[in-house]
Amino acid sequence: MKFRTKAIHVGNQRCQTTGAVVPPIHLASTYVQTHPGEWGDYDYSRSGNPTRDNMEDTLAALEGGCDALAFASGMAATHCVTMLLSAGDHIVAGTDIYGGTYRLFHKICNRAGIEITLVDASQPANIAKGIQDNTKLVWIESPGNPLLSITDIKACADIAKQAGVLIGIDNTFASPVLTRPLELGIDIVMHSATKYLGGHSDALGGALVVQDPDLREKLYFIQNATGNCMSPLDSFLISRGMKTLDLRVRAQSESALSIAKYLDDDPRISRVLYPGLPAFPGHSIAAQQMDGGFGAMLSFEIVGDFEQAKRVTASTRLFQLAVSLGAVESLIEQPASMSHASYDREDRLAHGINDELIRLSVGLEDVDDLIADLDQALDC
Ligand SMILES: Cc1ncc(COP(=O)(O)O)c(C=O)c1O
Repeated sequence: MKFRTKAIHVGNQRCQTTGAVVPPIHLASTYVQTHPGEWGDYDYSRSGNPTRDNMEDTLAALEGGCDALAFASGMAATHCVTMLLSAGDHIVAGTDIYGGTYRLFHKICNRAGIEITLVDASQPANIAKGIQDNTKLVWIESPGNPLLSITDIKACADIAKQAGVLIGIDNTFASPVLTRPLELGIDIVMHSATKYLGGHSDALGGALVVQDPDLREKLYFIQNATGNCMSPLDSFLISRGMKTLDLRVRAQSESALSIAKYLDDDPRISRVLYPGLPAFPGHSIAAQQMDGGFGAMLSFEIVGDFEQAKRVTASTRLFQLAVSLGAVESLIEQPASMSHASYDREDRLAHGINDELIRLSVGLEDVDDLIADLDQALDC
């Protein structure tokens, strides 16, 4: 089956009892056993739920994994990965990562005695240099958030493999439509399913996808022991979202490319960060590892300061001022005061997340309307 067929037919089998073409939402928290100590397919919803299983089966098929595990949020999924580590272990991560991941690593994992080193992962040699004797995990994102930096996924996977270190990637921005990291040697693919997988700003969830059944068992043990799972309603909504994932991501990516080109020619803009622009560093790697599009996220810096960037983000009419991304509605935000406010300011500036940076999540509206909206906001 090809991608779009899997998105509709894997994990979405019709209901055997009623014939309903859409499987029902299973809300039951517990399941009857035939005899004490004899477990059926399901016993308790934290440990397994049919609606969650459906969502996991679809995503595993789209990413090419042996299984997926669905969590209450993207952060819960990433946290589960870090719980594979023990006190004294070390993580090497890219600098261009989601602010919440930065906070998890520096303000939660550190309490468990886990050490973190951030390196510019757009140069894979930096990952190799960052690996120490006690390194147990490499964590990357491509395109990165919010600078859209491109990391050579296969090169980093090869480095991690050679060092005997597990490597995970946050694949939220690209989605499996554009990048399937397991095919490139990655061990764990993570998603904020809240974003493109769901696609309609109405569900919260996270997911991990793996190819190795032993690794799946280790992660599942942690997930079940810590009780971190996606609710049946969110599972249902994200399953529904994935049916149109391919169409949405491709159309939104096309619009993002048009907007990037428009902004690139505008004197009110000093820098456009979009992997689809030929002059963008990492463009050729992106063209190799992204399948037919460069994603629907883009950032740009205005000629102006923090306050001016704030005014622009508050002046759009179609782009709504909100964090999050990946849905049919276009969103705008200022990373310095919103998505990346959890960075210490010096650290944020050192990582290139400047005050005048603005991030767009391009939705499914008509691209001419979106460009007209940005044009009027840039004059405010
Ligand atoms: C790239 C990326 N990864 C992870 C997350 C965290 O996901 P969640 O909000 O579902 O916990 C986000 C949220 O914005 C994100 O943008």
